[in-house]
Amino acid sequence: MEFPKLRNDLILRAARGEDVERVPVWAMRQAGRYLPEFRKVREDHDFFKICRTPELACEITLQPILRFDLDAAIIFSDILVIPQALGLVVEMVPGKGPHFPQPIREPQDLERVATTVDIQMELGYVMDAVALTRVRLDGKVPLVGFCGAPWTLMSYMIEGGGSPSFPHAKRWLYTYPDESTKLLGIITEVCVNYLVAKVKSGAQMLQVFESHAGILTISQFRQFALPFISAIARRVKEALGDEAVPMTYFSRGGHHAIGTIAESGYDVISVDWTIEPEEARKLVGPNVTLQGNLDPCALFSGEEKLASLTRDMLDKFGCKRYIANLGHGMMPDFKPESLEVFVNTVHSHSEKLLS
Ligand code: CP3
Repeated sequence: MEFPKLRNDLILRAARGEDVERVPVWAMRQAGRYLPEFRKVREDHDFFKICRTPELACEITLQPILRFDLDAAIIFSDILVIPQALGLVVEMVPGKGPHFPQPIREPQDLERVATTVDIQMELGYVMDAVALTRVRLDGKVPLVGFCGAPWTLMSYMIEGGGSPSFPHAKRWLYTYPDESTKLLGIITEVCVNYLVAKVKSGAQMLQVFESHAGILTISQFRQFALPFISAIARRVKEALGDEAVPMTYFSRGGHHAIGTIAESGYDVISVDWTIEPEEARKLVGPNVTLQGNLDPCALFSGEEKLASLTRDMLDKFGCKRYIANLGHGMMPDFKPESLEVFVNTVHSHSEKLLS
């Protein structure tokens, strides 16, 4: 497909390790409930209805782009569309978050999970939203596609919703390691085909979200997360060949593994706020781009304090092989103006550092 010419490729250059004239910046969950215009659309529509309606998903993807000087758009959707495509019912309960009325609890429940997914049939609506958004973005900034990492998706499918410690999901790893591996393999297969299809539909960069890395022991991470996320990077790039795009791995609580992940094909490693930038750089080496990692709650600070924390973050990461972001997503009670301070400070301070 022919799309409008890209006019700002800062984030792609930073991901590939090329020179930039200012540090690119975006925010996870930049389209979300902290924006009044998002809440307005949400009043009239169910969450997954928005995901399934390309016009609405596109409109919401563009909301933060119209407001702020961001360097990337991320397609509006959710990581839980993959469990839905695998046959599970997922609802988004306002004020509570995701809810699976019938989670997987015992191995025989795997009978309710599809073994393969026809991406176009089950998730074609995401591809339509991606293609439409590429057109409407008119080349302003690159469009990022994403999926949840297999362990993070499996943990939701078994737990049935959010939880501080995911005891049901962890029980599976201890009592049903073979079935866990089987389920992770099924999810991995879908993730690979899904990400490839997203790029073919217009996504210019990809991010894999491992929001639940920190729940695992280090050896569980090596057994139940690492092989699957490594396979995703390798297989997506193989399948895309010359069309391959930069890939980012975000983990919450997965610092111990970022050195290995940096060697497994990801171009960008996105870190949370619990690691110092210098330490992250030491772990990943010089050939990978880092993304992160301001504590999202720093956005509760006043303007001066927030700008100073942002400058401090930039000073520590440096302007090479770096994409500025928060250590996790935007939260509903943030003021939109605080994201503006973050974004504008990244731009102005990095331009100064680079000049
Ligand atoms: O702007 C963007 O980043 C794009 C859209 C996006 C959403 N979810 C929209 C959303 C993205 C990239 C996600 C990813 C996602 N979804 C993750 C990984 C990132 C992370 O935050 O760790 C996870 C774990 C989920 C699962 C999920 N979806 C949860 C736990 C929740 C509830 C928590 C909450 O903030 O309410 C959601 C709901 C959700 N996904 C909302 C949005 C805008 C709010 C839902 C609403 O309007 O009621």
